[in-house]
Amino acid sequence: MCGIVGILGARPVAGTLLETLKRLEYRGYDSAGVATLENGQITRRRAAGKLKNLEACLAAEPLFGHLGIGHTRWATHGRPTAINAHPHQNGKVAVVHNGIIENFKTLRDELRAKGHTFASDTDTEVVAHLVDAAMSDGLAPAEAVAATLPRLKGAFALAFLFEGEDDLMIGAREGAPLVVGFGAGDKTGEFYLGSDALALAPLTDALAYLEEGDYVVLTRHGAKFYDTESRPVARKRVKTPASAFLIDRGNYRHFMDKEIHEQPEVIGRVLAHYLDLSAGTVALPFELPVDPARLPRLTIAACGTAYMAGLIASYWFERIAKLPVEIEVASEFRYREAPMQKGGLMLLISQSGETADTLASLRYAKQQGQKILSVVNVATSTMARESDVAALTLAGPEIGVASTKAFTCQLALLACLALAFGRARGTIDAKEEARLVAELMAVPGLMAEVLHREPKIELLARDLGKARDVLYLGRGTSYPLALEGALKLKEISYIHAEGYAAGELKHGPIALVDSDLPVIVLAPRDRVFEKTLSNVQEVAARNGRIILISDSAGANDLGGEAEIIAMPDMAPEFSAIVYALPVQMIAYHTAVFMGKDADQPRNLAKSVTVE
Ligand code: F6R
Repeated sequence: MCGIVGILGARPVAGTLLETLKRLEYRGYDSAGVATLENGQITRRRAAGKLKNLEACLAAEPLFGHLGIGHTRWATHGRPTAINAHPHQNGKVAVVHNGIIENFKTLRDELRAKGHTFASDTDTEVVAHLVDAAMSDGLAPAEAVAATLPRLKGAFALAFLFEGEDDLMIGAREGAPLVVGFGAGDKTGEFYLGSDALALAPLTDALAYLEEGDYVVLTRHGAKFYDTESRPVARKRVKTPASAFLIDRGNYRHFMDKEIHEQPEVIGRVLAHYLDLSAGTVALPFELPVDPARLPRLTIAACGTAYMAGLIASYWFERIAKLPVEIEVASEFRYREAPMQKGGLMLLISQSGETADTLASLRYAKQQGQKILSVVNVATSTMARESDVAALTLAGPEIGVASTKAFTCQLALLACLALAFGRARGTIDAKEEARLVAELMAVPGLMAEVLHREPKIELLARDLGKARDVLYLGRGTSYPLALEGALKLKEISYIHAEGYAAGELKHGPIALVDSDLPVIVLAPRDRVFEKTLSNVQEVAARNGRIILISDSAGANDLGGEAEIIAMPDMAPEFSAIVYALPVQMIAYHTAVFMGKDADQPRNLAKSVTVE
């Protein structure tokens, strides 16, 4: 999604704006721009494509203002051209925007009827026109922003500059995140705006988050926050733990590669946080917002990979805690008007904690009298702040657009939650808890072992890179993992892939099977293992190309008929966490072999703050 940055400084800011935008690249974007204010005049530089194009523009025609805003744009309205890139300007106002102005057509028609002409196809440009028009009517800049915000429907984070005002920057938020940074030391008196703490990490760790509907007026004398009714409000200053070094790629070729390899370590961290490793029990460091023993059902909503994590967890909650689970993609759930019994529990899963549909589901569930438990990676995110309890996935910043370590950390934490629910509901006794905890504790070591399969997977990827379509099959928790495998391959290699429940094969997809179609089968030795192998035989009988991800049992049974990615033998319950690794490595190496940008796949955004 779009990234926003603003600097109100004491020296030229264009270079720092550009550096800060580089830290927002992970969010996904297709054009970029900056504007600074010099001698009272706004000057912009914008470019389609990657930041190096904007860097070249700035090298050819530098900007020298001490006050500026910058933007990476993920196109929603209008193609990713330089004209549509932000900042947008009308008259005295320049603006950058993350989100969608849903009523922009109505507003644009209204403005056109008054004689306004528009330079771009974007929804954002109406904001510059509205604020400028309000200033032409005699309002001061902050009043003009305050008068404009209630007219905008949708989700937005905005940052403004104003011609003739070299000590003023304004930010506003409704449905998309925005944070204010406070300069310290030799930067005392500097103020920043950013889409997230990571972007501002090299500049400051002192931050204040805008609440929904807030706007903030920044001058070199301070930051003044106002709520939706334009009443002055105090917003707490916090220290953020995100530090500059955390987003270093190290020796890895891509962040995705680094994040795949970090998993044994980060999963260990999650388990150490949510289990008592010496006692061999689950030990949640927070109190659950409901009594699991009295809970009639659990509702889960999430998007994309986080939804797959929820699907896998639904098997665990049902089997371990005997708790009925309803799970839905958040974009559907939010509009279903599902009646919810008061006092129930809603579980939201999100890496960013900002995904618009998941956040809307959270708010809907709240209105329905549900307690909210969120599983999020970003501790300062909107979802974390709006939940009764936010359980953190502790994956550290995930920069690759395709989720890897955040997914497995979600799984590890959800497994701990399922155990805690099982214990509270009396569906597992102490012995069973100890057995399952021991299974979980084995996961980081098993993951480390699986990373050694990389050379084999790299070779396999050379083959997969030539395929037109790929099928993933699995049963039990391997079924959602098959969906995740297909999603991962699609999003970074652009090869068409489908995930299927292996038992569904003969109800349709088997028609696709021929010697050109790679069929990747996830078959840990669990209670449906034999059934999965029967489905594999059905593929083999039709000359399908089988790639079997399985342990020694699978290799013994199908050694002759399939290419095997040999997994270590393991207890079955939490195999999905370990089997996620080959699935991710297959996607990664296929994309790299095909020359694709694994970290920033086309069209995708890291934090999806629009519907
Ligand atoms: C896929 C991927 C996405 C996200 C989805 C939800 O690799 O990363 O499908 O999982 O956009 O994002 P969060 O978890 O931030 O809510």
